[in-house]
Amino acid sequence: MNYKTKIYGIFCTKGGVGKTTTCANLGAILADMGQRVLLVDADPQQSLSRHYPLAIPATYGLSQVYTAADATDCISQTCYPNLDIILNDDPGSEGKIPTVLRKSILHFQHLRHSLEQLDGTYDYILIDTQGASGIIQESVIMAADVIISPVKPQVLDSREFVYGTVELVNKFKPRPGFYSITGRPLPPIRVLINLWDRTTTAAEVAGHLRREFDQQADGHVTVLNTVIPTLKVYSEAAGLGVPAHRHEPTRDGRSKSALDTLLDLVHELEPKLMDLRPVWTE
Ligand SMILES: Nc1ncnc2c1ncn2[C@@H]1O[C@H](COP(=O)(O)OP(=O)(O)O)[C@@H](O)[C@H]1O
Ligand SMILES: [Mg+2]
Repeated sequence: MNYKTKIYGIFCTKGGVGKTTTCANLGAILADMGQRVLLVDADPQQSLSRHYPLAIPATYGLSQVYTAADATDCISQTCYPNLDIILNDDPGSEGKIPTVLRKSILHFQHLRHSLEQLDGTYDYILIDTQGASGIIQESVIMAADVIISPVKPQVLDSREFVYGTVELVNKFKPRPGFYSITGRPLPPIRVLINLWDRTTTAAEVAGHLRREFDQQADGHVTVLNTVIPTLKVYSEAAGLGVPAHRHEPTRDGRSKSALDTLLDLVHELEPKLMDLRPVWTE
């Protein structure tokens, strides 16, 4: 089956690496490029749910998507055109979603099945997750066509990434004698170096990650060329509830503007959007 909607899971077993920031900014720039985008907040800490102001809140949120396997009445509209969101309404670690998932043998499939019913309604669905491994994250891995994994260019972070993130995804790799759980290939992992600070360690760690994964024949993990520097614009834009590319369309000095950096990211992830630029009215 060919799906019309591409689902990105933003996943990394570490917290504070920029998952929510990436999810919010990537979603918003795609939406300003005329793409229909749905954000999904699968993190019980609800940071993505609070990121952008809402225009029209829905009656339900993510727990309904899991319990009823249906996303009708779960989709809220943000104040930005083309940018919808399924809010997380299930805070804490012992909420309804983990309970439903633990009770079902097909728990891995729940989210994918619900989102497949929206196929064609959106061009992109971006799912944010909590920085840990767990049953919700597994359902996101199963739902995703591609995983974006933000990593800080520091030694401990890159280790955590290699051992935590890649291992968890590989758990779902089809093995000889077993069928793939989803009937779809394992989602490739695209590593996004975020919070780049121009230090030697950062350069070394980034180089190390690229060498490590470029050598692997299956090409399952690739490190994106686009790197997101540590800049105030990203935290400032988040604080204001504004997409980073709108907050900083141009910039003087050595670093690229948030708009140019995020546009690089979109073009690298989705080369078919190469001719598009975001447009918006204030
Ligand atoms: N490139 C960046 N430059 C500066 N601050 C950033 C950048 N990326 C993320 N941040 C900030 O770092 C903190 C953690 O980011 P967040 O996206 O919440 O991480 P996660 O979702 O992985 O826990 C937030 O305060 C965010 O504003
Ligand atoms: Mg987060």
